[in-house]
Amino acid sequence: MDVMSIVQQNKEYLCDLRHEFHMYPETAWNEVWTSKRIREELTKLGIPYVEVANTATVATLEGKKKKPVIGLRCDIDALPVQEVKNPPYKSRNDGVMHACGHDSHITMLLGAAKILSQHKDELDCTVKFIFQPSEEVFEGAKAILDTGVLDDVDNFFGMHIFPYLPVGTISVDAGPRYTSADTMKIKIIGKSGHGAMPQFAVDPIYVGCQVVNALQSIASRELDPMDTTVVSVCEFHCGTRCNVIERVAELTGTVRTFSPEDRKNLPVIIERIISNTCSAFRAEYEFEYIPGPPAVINDPVCSQWAEEGVRKILGDEGVIHYRGISGGEDFALMLDRAPGVYAFVGCRNEANDQCYSLHHERFDLDENGMFNGCALYVQYVLEAQKHLQEK
Ligand code: NI
Repeated sequence: MDVMSIVQQNKEYLCDLRHEFHMYPETAWNEVWTSKRIREELTKLGIPYVEVANTATVATLEGKKKKPVIGLRCDIDALPVQEVKNPPYKSRNDGVMHACGHDSHITMLLGAAKILSQHKDELDCTVKFIFQPSEEVFEGAKAILDTGVLDDVDNFFGMHIFPYLPVGTISVDAGPRYTSADTMKIKIIGKSGHGAMPQFAVDPIYVGCQVVNALQSIASRELDPMDTTVVSVCEFHCGTRCNVIERVAELTGTVRTFSPEDRKNLPVIIERIISNTCSAFRAEYEFEYIPGPPAVINDPVCSQWAEEGVRKILGDEGVIHYRGISGGEDFALMLDRAPGVYAFVGCRNEANDQCYSLHHERFDLDENGMFNGCALYVQYVLEAQKHLQEK
């Protein structure tokens, strides 16, 4: 089938859907209307689905063969961001916005479900359409996987609309896509006292500042500079009054890396620095390290299949190479179960002011990028089923 021209015939359907999802964004675990609307659409298409983890939906389309099973995944949650632009489909939910473009992700996957269900005779596999809630808090993928509904999936494919790449291009490079994303919580415990008489106190603000500084030595002085590592302290809470030395400072931060080995070592290194810095300045500490999703690493073979797919829908000029990005994505948990690939789908168009970063209050996308993404969902299935049959 000529996937791109079929998508072109469905442009209006896709735009209408996206505008509707854009108008009624819902944050993580609150995607009640969104999931209801997704299920309505699946019912219209006659594709059976299961409701799992409250707001997650997994639809199954059986082709001529039951196996392999290819899982196409999108995320459906929005962000607590106030939209600033004024499109006719501006968010009607105050303080909530699809600032990460997940409205377009839902649309692309529903579009792919529609097209594939109308061309079932060309399917030599089963496709599972995974509408995942709560990506922004890294909880949705685990919640779905824990139900077992994806246990039979042989290959996963996911994507993100990507304002850092021009519309008309897609990156499906092998290797690192997203870093792991772990959280650290640090308590510096000193001794309270009078701000004028620090000799009787142990000041957790001072000690905390030394800790923040020292943590920056990890990426710059301890780990291989060729590896990507980020250690960022993003919260520092302490103090109530200008002349009171508080007893406790609370810090939180995020830790990112592509390297599984560094990821294993980082909590140990971080705690060593906290422990020794605190002891140097007579403070005590508590340290908690909360693992988030691992890194998203594209399987080199699946990345080749996806690249063939991009060439078929956009020609050679559609293939663009892009390094990974130090964000996190819980799609990584699906790739831990079965190989697959994650695509960055260009949607940048400066002439139309569609060039703001994801999560920006003015974020918007060139909808041609959405059409390309929809086409790639379909084309990936056609490519992957061919190669998975051969296995
Ligand atoms: Ni996102």
